[in-house]
Amino acid sequence: MAKYVLPMERKKQEYLAERERFFAELPKLSRRDFFKTAAKAAAVATAFWKGFPPHSFQLIRVAEAKESQPKFTFAYISDTHILDKGLNHRFVKACQKAVDDVNALDPQPDFVLFGGDLAQLGKPEELSLGKQLLDQLKAPVRMMVGEHDWYLDLGEKWREMFGEPTYSFDHKGVHFIVLNSVIVEDYWTEPKMTPMERMLAMAQLDNPNGRPFMVGEEQREWLKKDLAKVDKKTPIVIFSHSPLYKYYRPWNFWTEDAEEVHKILAPFETVTVIHAHTHQVLTHRLRNITFHGVLSTAWPWPYAPQGIPELTVQMVRADPFNQFDGCGWGSVNMRPDGQADKHYVLWDRNPMTVTFDHVRRGKQGMAELAKPLQGRVDWPSY
Ligand SMILES: [Fe+2]
Ligand SMILES: [Fe+2]
Repeated sequence: MAKYVLPMERKKQEYLAERERFFAELPKLSRRDFFKTAAKAAAVATAFWKGFPPHSFQLIRVAEAKESQPKFTFAYISDTHILDKGLNHRFVKACQKAVDDVNALDPQPDFVLFGGDLAQLGKPEELSLGKQLLDQLKAPVRMMVGEHDWYLDLGEKWREMFGEPTYSFDHKGVHFIVLNSVIVEDYWTEPKMTPMERMLAMAQLDNPNGRPFMVGEEQREWLKKDLAKVDKKTPIVIFSHSPLYKYYRPWNFWTEDAEEVHKILAPFETVTVIHAHTHQVLTHRLRNITFHGVLSTAWPWPYAPQGIPELTVQMVRADPFNQFDGCGWGSVNMRPDGQADKHYVLWDRNPMTVTFDHVRRGKQGMAELAKPLQGRVDWPSY
């Protein structure tokens, strides 16, 4: 007897088959053809998501019902770690998947933050492939730099492609600041390390030669000047690659001059830091500042053995046989009061929304958040 397939299920299967064909074709394509085909695949994805919103998006809508109506939304994609290993590499696929997902949002976010670590080893080929992938995004992109983009040529290529890494902008009443928070003291000149030796050392999680990340004096001075013209009641959102606090020093989940930066931010009533680098769900609050980590599209890091902020509801350990598990992208709803509600769109799992109300209620709020996180979404990855 023929098995009856529900229309939603059939549509899902057609979509997954289309994606399968797309990825099967990848090794045969030139780079130009790849982007042409990718655009076609994205159009299929958009039509699919519009007609039949995936489970994760439906859940987000349910979660949003409990949130205050956002003033505006921005999305993020981060830590893609693109390698120069061909278009069929899984990190390219993952970045493309995030771009497709964000392009399928309706309405579109006001802009997309790219959180840094676009490349794995800072090579021009990696950065340029990453840029071509991000260029497909419909919404404007705000770029941030990570250490993997920086330490081959100390930012030369990145600057040429994306401009200065430190800047600010105002959007709908919120003052946004983007920092280069992956500055470290020079440990390469004296031992005469080559640029690639320096890069490879920085790319290690527990770099034995590494120095802690910092914002540095020059940027702190810039920050003071930038904020001098901003009213203390204006909500501030800071984009930083390294967490702007001290989480775990041996893995450089750390910002050495965090306290000095916090002092500059102390007079402001509402401050949110969105940081990358840690590739995991993270929530922290220190006085007037709320900190949110972002997901990577490439891989999830495990939680550090100590120093995990108390407010963090930890994501379950990723399935090592599923390349997308524990990875994803996300978005941030800026509320009318200037606080942020943070969405994690975890591929193959229930999404997670950390609202400011959860954070404000402290450990109790986070315990409530942790309850519905049991179980996984029955939704295959492509
Ligand atoms: Fe990263
Ligand atoms: Fe990083």
